[in-house]
Amino acid sequence: MTHSNSVKCYKNEVIMSHNQFKIKYPSIHLGTEQSTINFYDSTPDLVKIFNPGQDETHKRLFVTDATVASLACMQDFISKFEDDICGNDKLIILGSGEPYKTIESVLRIVSSGVDFGLSRKDTFIGIGGGVICDTTAFAASIYKRGAKLQLVPTTLLAMVDASIGGKTGCDFDNYKNIIGTFYPAEDLFYFPEFVQSLPENQYNSGLAEAFKTALLFDEELYELFKNQSDKINSRDKALLNTIIQKCVQAKASIVEQDFTEQNIRSYLNLGHTFGHALETVAGLGSITHGAAVAWGIGRCVELCFKKDYCREAFKNEIFDILKLYNWETVAVPSVVKGGGIGQRFLSVMHKDKKNLNDNIRIVLQKGIKDTVVEEVSEKDILMVLK
Ligand SMILES: NC(=O)c1ccc[n+]([C@@H]2O[C@H](COP(=O)([O-])OP(=O)(O)OC[C@H]3O[C@@H](n4cnc5c(N)ncnc54)[C@H](O)[C@@H]3O)[C@@H](O)[C@H]2O)c1
Repeated sequence: MTHSNSVKCYKNEVIMSHNQFKIKYPSIHLGTEQSTINFYDSTPDLVKIFNPGQDETHKRLFVTDATVASLACMQDFISKFEDDICGNDKLIILGSGEPYKTIESVLRIVSSGVDFGLSRKDTFIGIGGGVICDTTAFAASIYKRGAKLQLVPTTLLAMVDASIGGKTGCDFDNYKNIIGTFYPAEDLFYFPEFVQSLPENQYNSGLAEAFKTALLFDEELYELFKNQSDKINSRDKALLNTIIQKCVQAKASIVEQDFTEQNIRSYLNLGHTFGHALETVAGLGSITHGAAVAWGIGRCVELCFKKDYCREAFKNEIFDILKLYNWETVAVPSVVKGGGIGQRFLSVMHKDKKNLNDNIRIVLQKGIKDTVVEEVSEKDILMVLK
């Protein structure tokens, strides 16, 4: 601690003296120092991984959603819990999807932990898509100022993006992810096979985030999206394993370099400024997050072309790939209804939490692995929305 007597404030010519104390802290962050990601090339078998009821020293709270709990591959695991309890383990099942990404869900997880007597040395385990991963991780991060956390991502989006990198949170007051923490999971258990039971639109949504990763960081992955669309669209297992592992490696490397998103991690927002605006303008839930992001990537590349940042051949190639996965490349996608579209988009884009001031900041892709983040004028944005 340092202490100084100083005369520092000058206001209306009255000199105010004050004492100042400073306390220095080690630069720590809560949670684990390292995440271990385990890949399993087999049917998900959570009984084998977690052995419910067998751990006599620690308590665990498993959190999943109703859809995941009803999957055939989950039945052996779910049936171990009688009245939601199996020895030192407890299971809670939340509602499915974004409407349940609420502070109420987070508090329900916390309150189940309290009721079951979890200590901060005990473990919260989220089994589900991005919503379950984000809310369980958020609950673990605030429970007794931080308990142990493990995740089992079950959607493609959660595997390639949401479960890695420690961003947690929930929606509040109509704002997406407006409350949250940074709190990485200690262990992650990946069963790419979970992806096989996803509805088509959810699968396609995860693919969009994987394509984004390819454009940003991985030329080989980009080539797979360009040349192997039939196999990717038919969920070829071997190819999916490769795609998921490549995305995990790319995101892990970015998170290691820039955990709190001060610079390079912001590239992961490629397509998201346009995409989030589309989700809002079209009405939340009328288009998947991934489909909106894919459209947003198209708009960013169009913007690059109009600003002379990329060649026409690059723009055309990206548009051709987007079409292979049924992503829209037109200026105004079919889900947007009504007039005044440009102004409606601008008003949402101005509120994007990635902006540093009133100007709109956008991630622009000039080529494969060639990215910049820039403030873009309203005039330029409107140019690619009509
Ligand atoms: N933390 C991060 O860094 C990060 C990154 C990207 C996205 N996200 C968040 O992730 C969320 C979106 O994730 P999501 O797309 O996984 O949504 P989700 O969790 O709502 O899952 C989508 C739907 O698929 C169902 N589902 C899950 N696994 C299934 C399976 N194997 N088979 C069949 N159905 C299954 C779910 O019940 C749900 O109805 C958003 O809230 C977003 O903000 C977080």
